[in-house]
Amino acid sequence: MPLPTPASEPSITTDPVLIFDSGVGGLSVVRALRAQLPGVPLAYVCDNAALPYGTKADDWLVARIVAVCAAAVAASGARALVVACNTASTLALEALRDRLAIPVVGTVPAIKPAAALSHSGVIGLLATSATVCRPYTDRLIADFAAGRTVVRVAADTLVAQAERLIAGEPVDPAALDRGLAPLWANPALDTVVLGCTHFPLLEGVLAERAPRPVQWVDSGAAIARRVAQVLDPLPPADAQADDPAWATGPVSPGLTRGFAGFGFGAPGLLVL
Ligand code: DGL
Repeated sequence: MPLPTPASEPSITTDPVLIFDSGVGGLSVVRALRAQLPGVPLAYVCDNAALPYGTKADDWLVARIVAVCAAAVAASGARALVVACNTASTLALEALRDRLAIPVVGTVPAIKPAAALSHSGVIGLLATSATVCRPYTDRLIADFAAGRTVVRVAADTLVAQAERLIAGEPVDPAALDRGLAPLWANPALDTVVLGCTHFPLLEGVLAERAPRPVQWVDSGAAIARRVAQVLDPLPPADAQADDPAWATGPVSPGLTRGFAGFGFGAPGLLVL
């Protein structure tokens, strides 16, 4: 008599998890994923031809984000997509989930942990122009920071500085100071949400420019925990070759070296 077929076990595949951002910001999420899930193969796509997202119109962005992610999921054979961009996630998660057949993990500003960490009850939200005023952000604040003061600061200028840092170019201290300045007007502010994935890449230099110590909070570790739940069971932590990457526009040699530092090969051109 044939043996009964064992109950189906979840399979361990080597299909990558695709990380998406407008630019290098998703690398701050890659850092958390590599630390927490070292065996998981990744792929990366950046829409650098349309960078920055934070100052663009919502309707245009939704269509663009869906087109780029759909093309990159097809090119990479990804098993899951991480939208490692607050500006995209607070706008287009629903449209992405409607279009794609794989799990989609989003990134939203870490208002909840920051509200819990703050002693004074005054927290800053440092993000793009788009993210600071989205209804999604209003709901996060109403749900998780009721009774707290949230100082919203649009700091699009920091996006370009993070791009420079990863490309090995010097950052402009005056641009950092201008981006941070509105935070310091409230002397009780003790915690800052880095609500754009580009900003954790700058955390060291931002802390140096701050006039007083504050707690900087980002979403990287929480996203990695969510990805671990989605992927369960996880592949073993083997040494891997470079993971693939794509971009929608030309990538400078400096940026290619920056991607290599996070375990990615030279980005290929994504055809839309
Ligand atoms: N990294 C993106 C975010 O988290 C935004 C950068 C941009 O404006 O393109 O919001």
